[in-house]
Amino acid sequence: MVKTYRAVQFTEYGGPEVLRVVEREVPRPGPGTVLVEVRAAGVNPLDWKLRSGAVAATMPVEFPAVPGGDVAGVVRDVGEGVSDFVAGDEVFGSIGAGGYAEFVVAPAAQLARKPASVSWEIAAGLPVAVNTAYQALDDLGVKAGETLVVDGAAGGVGSVAVQIARHLGATVIGTASARNHAYLRSLGAEPVLYGEGLAERIRAIAPHGADAAFDTAGKGSLPALVEVTGGPERVVTIADHRAEEHGVRFVFAGAGALRERLERASALAENGELTLSVARTYTLSEAADAHRESEGGHVRGKLVIVPG
Ligand SMILES: NC(=O)c1ccc[n+]([C@@H]2O[C@H](COP(=O)([O-])OP(=O)(O)OC[C@H]3O[C@@H](n4cnc5c(N)ncnc54)[C@H](OP(=O)(O)O)[C@@H]3O)[C@@H](O)[C@H]2O)c1
Repeated sequence: MVKTYRAVQFTEYGGPEVLRVVEREVPRPGPGTVLVEVRAAGVNPLDWKLRSGAVAATMPVEFPAVPGGDVAGVVRDVGEGVSDFVAGDEVFGSIGAGGYAEFVVAPAAQLARKPASVSWEIAAGLPVAVNTAYQALDDLGVKAGETLVVDGAAGGVGSVAVQIARHLGATVIGTASARNHAYLRSLGAEPVLYGEGLAERIRAIAPHGADAAFDTAGKGSLPALVEVTGGPERVVTIADHRAEEHGVRFVFAGAGALRERLERASALAENGELTLSVARTYTLSEAADAHRESEGGHVRGKLVIVPG
């Protein structure tokens, strides 16, 4: 077993340049945790919001910090009281932080078995998106036969929400820029452009409006979504902090139902009913570039870091 490993670390808030590759000592997993050899780590917008200090008031970072809430990898050691995994198990999960590294100690309860037929990159991109999409669709109570609008449907959370809603039997209208419309059709959604005139474009497809709407983008679409659903009751957002002004619920997905949601997603992925576009992969030393690309706000699916 190796003694040291490489990790992407930052010791102060700042731009992508604060991310540095450092050598750390491989830790022993404590009670309830496992040591995972990371094969791939998904990049989430929260990673750069934590790094920049943008969310420091509510989610302060303890330095030195290693970004990366989403991982897929192989269990190498298990801590006291862990009975659900053994060394050698292939897992994926949403672990809060630490994923941009060759090894990470992760809470066992926040991991599930990786679907065997799914690549490391896709498995690493799924956890936060899956947990958040299920939370939002559960809160909205989306049912078969209903029409759901997913705003930001080409992104990580949006593209997963589209596929889960289709699996539930809903008709889905998804917003994206024109370059992503064929992609949305491939996921089973009817595409429309976001921005000015959104409500009219949705009504052109669904003359009686939509039953529910999920804003994943947080770019000002809530008034249009409230209009097409006939009120704020069945509209949720995960990214618009002005939700309350519009009477809309802000959804935050905690870890309570995580394992069960990862298992549901695994089953869908194994059946070919859930997939993810991996827009690009990066090495650990390219993590700053991955953050720049994510901050640009136009990733199709996911960016993924592969420690190599
Ligand atoms: N509350 C929670 O629990 C929670 C959980 C996860 C994520 N989040 C937040 O939710 C947001 C989305 O996360 P994500 O991982 O899905 O992000 P992401 O993958 O980076 O989203 C990128 C997508 O946003 C689309 N987009 C850009 N501008 C848009 C606009 N004006 N209207 C609609 N879509 C637009 C882009 O489509 P085009 O390229 O076609 O423009 C792109 O596909 C982030 O702010 C994240 O921090 C919150």
